[in-house]
Amino acid sequence: MGSDLTKDQQHRLATWVSGNLGLSFPPERQADLARAFLRYADFKGEAPERLVEKLLAGAAYGEQLAELAPYLTVGETYFFREPATFKLLSAEILPALLQGRDLKQSTVLNIWSAGCCTGEEAYSLAIFVAHWLSALGAATRVSVLGTDINQEFLEKARRAVYKSHSFRTRLAELACYEPYFERDGDSFRVRADIAGLVRFAIFNLAGEQELPSCDSPSAGFDLIICRNVLIYFSAEKQIAALKKLAARLAPGGYICLAPCEIPANLESDLPELERVEVGGRFFLRSVPAEKAGAAGSAGLTGSLETSFQALTLRYHLYVNTGRFQEAIVCLNQYLANTEDSRALYLRALVEEQTGALGEAEASLLRCLEQQPDFHMARFLLASGYLARGKRPQGVELLQHLRQSLAQVERDSLLPFSEGITASELLSVIDSLLQ
Ligand SMILES: C[S@@+](CC[C@H](N)C(=O)[O-])C[C@H]1O[C@@H](n2cnc3c(N)ncnc32)[C@H](O)[C@@H]1O
Repeated sequence: MGSDLTKDQQHRLATWVSGNLGLSFPPERQADLARAFLRYADFKGEAPERLVEKLLAGAAYGEQLAELAPYLTVGETYFFREPATFKLLSAEILPALLQGRDLKQSTVLNIWSAGCCTGEEAYSLAIFVAHWLSALGAATRVSVLGTDINQEFLEKARRAVYKSHSFRTRLAELACYEPYFERDGDSFRVRADIAGLVRFAIFNLAGEQELPSCDSPSAGFDLIICRNVLIYFSAEKQIAALKKLAARLAPGGYICLAPCEIPANLESDLPELERVEVGGRFFLRSVPAEKAGAAGSAGLTGSLETSFQALTLRYHLYVNTGRFQEAIVCLNQYLANTEDSRALYLRALVEEQTGALGEAEASLLRCLEQQPDFHMARFLLASGYLARGKRPQGVELLQHLRQSLAQVERDSLLPFSEGITASELLSVIDSLLQ
């Protein structure tokens, strides 16, 4: 290997690297930069002091950056890194992203893992979201793009084969995801159907270019995960990289950074993004166009509606997978902030299903107190009374329900009835009253 770089060369190289790769090498780390550059010069078979001058004299170009990047980047990653993020995805972010979508339609949730390293993060997302969607019984599919500046990392990512080190022993704790890997000796191969959901491309977050449109869904990404990448960038390059991410974010989409990577002056530096608190952690979200001046009571109703839709998704996920206790917990959390008759009704359904009949009755009575014309709640309460031999109470409720249903269009579908019309419910009531 040739001789070392001078202090001046180290300093100029650090400025060049920050400008072209985003990576920040403050004075105390410039000796590390010089050592990495010596290895690069050795690979090129050139004297480092000459190579550095050549590099600094010319304009940087893509292949050169891709060749140098592996010497300077840190490749620390593993599957399901920072499990708290994944918990928040399923509890809050995914339900929020799916709200308003018809889950029976085959729409796509687009995710971008920016700075994906050797692919563990991108595959974790594909596995986690595909597993979550299938438990929900949704026809929605997930598609993940993984990008990185380091071509060698991307080649490993495309091979989709990992050793146990990539799991840092977490797989034992996440046993439900084991079936998504095929074991071959001491290697784990990501199952082909999951690998098919993920594609990889080289992309420099600190470069001049935006993510090419061929790699970006036309509606934008619903979720962009860029963790443990910007921490190596200068403040100025962090903002520039976030602008690139924001430019490819779908309306209402979220950006997830590592907690320490959220810029301090977000409002002034990135007005296109807002900080949102989700389960005690901050995410970034695209600012809706109509945001300005939209506060007020309509806004509050909107946010209540949003959280109810998110709650409904979680409720269906838990109930469909037999996780009744978790369904009750999330309903109770929601009900702690608002006496919403719909949530009380859903809770009564779970309570009935788990045999907690007294609790179900109390939930239904509270529900009807809030909303006396909640037909399905009245019907469920009446049926419970009849089933438990409390015929007089059941009959009284059914007669009341009959009168109330007489005000409703015969063919209209009753809310929360899963497709029963007013006239169908009336004929059931008649047969029960006979
Ligand atoms: C520490 S890894 C983080 C991997 C993964 N996001 C995680 O949290 O497990 C940082 C990754 O950022 C990539 N990176 C660094 N500078 C980059 C740049 N300018 N553009 C794109 N990726 C970059 C590195 O190559 C490396 O793979």
